[in-house]
Amino acid sequence: MLSKDRANFGSKIGIILASAGSAVGLGNIWRFPCEVGSNGGAAFILIYLLCITFLGIPVMVSEFLIGRHSRANTASAYQILAPGTHWKWLGLMGVVAAFLILSYYAVVAGWTLEYTFASAADRFSGEKDFTGFFNNFVSNPWKPAACMALFLLLTHIVIVRGVKEGIEKFSKIMMPMLLLIICMLVICSFSMPGSIEGLTFLLKPDFSKVTTKVVLSAMGQAFFSLSLGMGCLCTYASYFSDEANLMKTAASVASIDTLVAIMAGFIIFPAVYSVQGLSPDAGPGLVFVTLPNVFRIAFGNVPWLGYIFSLMFYVLLVLAALTSTISLHEVSTAYIHESYGISRKQAARIVTGICIFLGIFCSLSFGILSDTTWMGMTVFDLFDFVTAKLIMPLGGMLICIFTGWYLDRRLVQAEVTNRGRLRLPFFGIYIFILRYVAPLAIGIIFVNELLK
Ligand code: PFF
Repeated sequence: MLSKDRANFGSKIGIILASAGSAVGLGNIWRFPCEVGSNGGAAFILIYLLCITFLGIPVMVSEFLIGRHSRANTASAYQILAPGTHWKWLGLMGVVAAFLILSYYAVVAGWTLEYTFASAADRFSGEKDFTGFFNNFVSNPWKPAACMALFLLLTHIVIVRGVKEGIEKFSKIMMPMLLLIICMLVICSFSMPGSIEGLTFLLKPDFSKVTTKVVLSAMGQAFFSLSLGMGCLCTYASYFSDEANLMKTAASVASIDTLVAIMAGFIIFPAVYSVQGLSPDAGPGLVFVTLPNVFRIAFGNVPWLGYIFSLMFYVLLVLAALTSTISLHEVSTAYIHESYGISRKQAARIVTGICIFLGIFCSLSFGILSDTTWMGMTVFDLFDFVTAKLIMPLGGMLICIFTGWYLDRRLVQAEVTNRGRLRLPFFGIYIFILRYVAPLAIGIIFVNELLK
């Protein structure tokens, strides 16, 4: 397809909100607090902020410039910029990653739908055993798979409406709603008795807890949270206008993403500390087991407040997950649509169908397929491992090498400065990070994950 015919985002705010929508997701509200909880709180957050600034933003700018310069889906982008070379595999690896991530991510996104329904139907108020509730639900062969399929269908509806009318329009509605809900929840959480202890956990760094494992987890989390290393933001950038300022957009997206992650911590930890006997390092169960307990116990005397708090929280998770599944779906849809000349609608149907099929196996990993493992990993764990631990860091490192070493420096400079129209005082530092700092740092995480 000719680049002139391609769809584009219509406004600067649309560009920022769609990209921030991809970045803000379960990674911020579900995974970030788990990582903070199990890696010692504030010290982890500080290292995370360094990773976002010195690795995340430079890699994001690189993905942006590759996408916008080629004006193509991520697989074709490398063929356009490096014709006849093996770099095309880097783009294809991103498409494979998008299929795999979407398949398991939609399972957890489906859980958020069930928890929203359960909150709306007030099923939590009489519940005492939330571990049992969670385990019964996720191990059921039908219900979580149906929720996963429903979530993918919601994503599908947005995708078939197109880039401007679907992705951009929905991001412009959902992101402000998400930010509003998060602000309201922070206020509620701060007003709970005993919340100060939770805040201290989040804000007082204890550097004795910093180990190499903590540094590596922070780096991995930064990549996952910013949707880097697999062509997602590269695909979105292929719809950016020529006027979009890539550095500023990357800084805005990273700031919104980090703000949401930290605010999620501000919601969860004060709430958890306000109830005695609950632990902040409950891992993945924090959001699905510990929090419903908090809602029930902390609001025992004012059940309607607990009802609202819980409903708002799970709606927040649904919105955050949806803006991310949309971006994952778009990577594969754009690839199939443009590379095979199939209509966008048909391409979207293929992607949704394949992901529902793969998602069923991921969903059953918590039930009847829990004993079907490979190297100790269920299908769900395997998809998570291959993407978040292998493909994303490897992709991130190769993207840095591609932009820092392979691409002509004049092309990079022209793209980042919008053909010389923007002044860019940090360009030298940016190239230095891309050439040396980022590939080395990311390479270390990668090897470490492999050797674990
Ligand atoms: N950044 C998303 C989150 O934090 O939940 C997850 C994600 C979305 C990863 C899109 C990768 C991606 F391409």
